[in-house]
Amino acid sequence: MAFPTKTIENFVKAGYPIIYLVSSEEERVENAIKSMGKNIYGDSGKFSVWSCTEGFRDGSENLVKALDKAVEEQSKGFYLFKDVNYFLDDPRILRKLKDAYQRLRKSPKTIFILSHSVSIPLEVEKEMAVIDIDLPDRSETGKIFDFIVKTYTPESVQNTMKPYFKEAAVNALQGLGALEMELALRRTLVGREELGGDAVDALLEEKAQLVRKSGTLDFVRSRIDIDKVGGLENIKEWLKVRRLAFSSEAKEFGLDTPKGILLMGISGCGKSLCAKAIATAWNLPLLRLDLNQVYSEAFGSPEAAFRKAIKTVEASAPCVLWIDEIEAGITRSGEKSGDSPTSRIFGYFLTWMQEKAYPVFVTATANQIDLLPPEILRKGRFDEIFFITLPNQKERREIFRIHLQNRGKSPDSFDLDSLAKNTEGLSGAEIEQAVISALFESYSKGKELDDRELIIAASSIVPLSTTMREDISKLERWASNRAVKASR
Ligand SMILES: Nc1ncnc2c1ncn2[C@@H]1O[C@H](COP(=O)(O)OP(=O)(O)OP(=O)(O)O)[C@@H](O)[C@H]1O
Ligand SMILES: [Mg+2]
Repeated sequence: MAFPTKTIENFVKAGYPIIYLVSSEEERVENAIKSMGKNIYGDSGKFSVWSCTEGFRDGSENLVKALDKAVEEQSKGFYLFKDVNYFLDDPRILRKLKDAYQRLRKSPKTIFILSHSVSIPLEVEKEMAVIDIDLPDRSETGKIFDFIVKTYTPESVQNTMKPYFKEAAVNALQGLGALEMELALRRTLVGREELGGDAVDALLEEKAQLVRKSGTLDFVRSRIDIDKVGGLENIKEWLKVRRLAFSSEAKEFGLDTPKGILLMGISGCGKSLCAKAIATAWNLPLLRLDLNQVYSEAFGSPEAAFRKAIKTVEASAPCVLWIDEIEAGITRSGEKSGDSPTSRIFGYFLTWMQEKAYPVFVTATANQIDLLPPEILRKGRFDEIFFITLPNQKERREIFRIHLQNRGKSPDSFDLDSLAKNTEGLSGAEIEQAVISALFESYSKGKELDDRELIIAASSIVPLSTTMREDISKLERWASNRAVKASR
């Protein structure tokens, strides 16, 4: 969605005296409101901005007085208040807001409250129209791109622009705020002599860092080819059937955009690997949400942090959102159910999953199914629930092949069948571990890696399937009639 200019204008014209804008992009919102005021009232309209340090830029920082001023002043126009959220526990401020609501109802004046999160006390909830401001969409990003490239690169460099460059750059920038986009672009462009693949790569790196800084999301750049995932044929088939589902042709054909899948199962069998492989296979950006960070309160209240993350994800659409260990976010030890942040976020998440207006494919993973509430498993939320269990013999063979290949060894010089036969009970991660430690062993002995060394390494691993036999059979029983097997 673009900047909601029309929506805000409609509220203004309908005489709403107080409009609460939710955004962490102060500069972008301030500029937009300012030019909206110009459009509506022309040059005679006033535009004043209040902040807790500068007041109306005249040093008078008292909020009560500032609200009075906004109400009393004769000129029409807009009053934009920042930082008000810090004062909403003051009864005098609440009173002033209620008064302002009454007095400004029929006047050509609007008070805007700008805050990065929604925290409106019940007392004044009815008095405010709340408008959530999305991050810049593709067309707005395109304009920012044009402006920055024109302003900050010499013409000779602009002429080197490859045909795909603008689209790739705009894609890379989606999910950032307008100011962040400008800075990322300027940093990427500085001193560059050519606008091509390298610049796109640099821009993606800038974005990864900016997204990481915001705390709860990680823009995952590592790509995993689906051929590097051993076994799990049913998942692969499912993905293959839907690989074009995010194209506009698919929409025209009448296909629903896939919502997401839930991968459950035994640790080390390829859940995280699959999440990366899906994004790679569909050629979509991958954003990982860290629920532990959401709940840490290091990035504001859990609700605000979660909503902010969702905004970034939606602006990046089409994309894959990867939520690892979703059960950790849903049920937290020591917390009663009911009106806790976790249950509120979970409720918000379920609604969002169901009503998602953006092409965001959710890949959630879970290890502890008994912590998952039944609502999440209901049809309509995830398209499919896959159960990933220990690899069978054929799959182990493939996993050995993949990890030998990954480390530059030719799989043909090993007896893969016998390796697979002799490693029952090992997970993919354990097979990889066996390959790694066998390599160390043979290197230290000054000889080439061989079957014997691999078998020795594999047999010295105490597999999770032994130490956690109970849990695994419980998981398998649970999954038998609730989930689709990931393997054939
Ligand atoms: N099916 C597989 N094919 C190839 N490699 C695999 C497979 N399963 C696991 N591996 C290897 O093991 C590593 C760990 O697997 P992964 O992180 O996907 O496990 P997980 O199911 O997410 O486990 P956890 O529940 O502990 O997070 C992978 O990076 C990969 O190298
Ligand atoms: Mg994992």
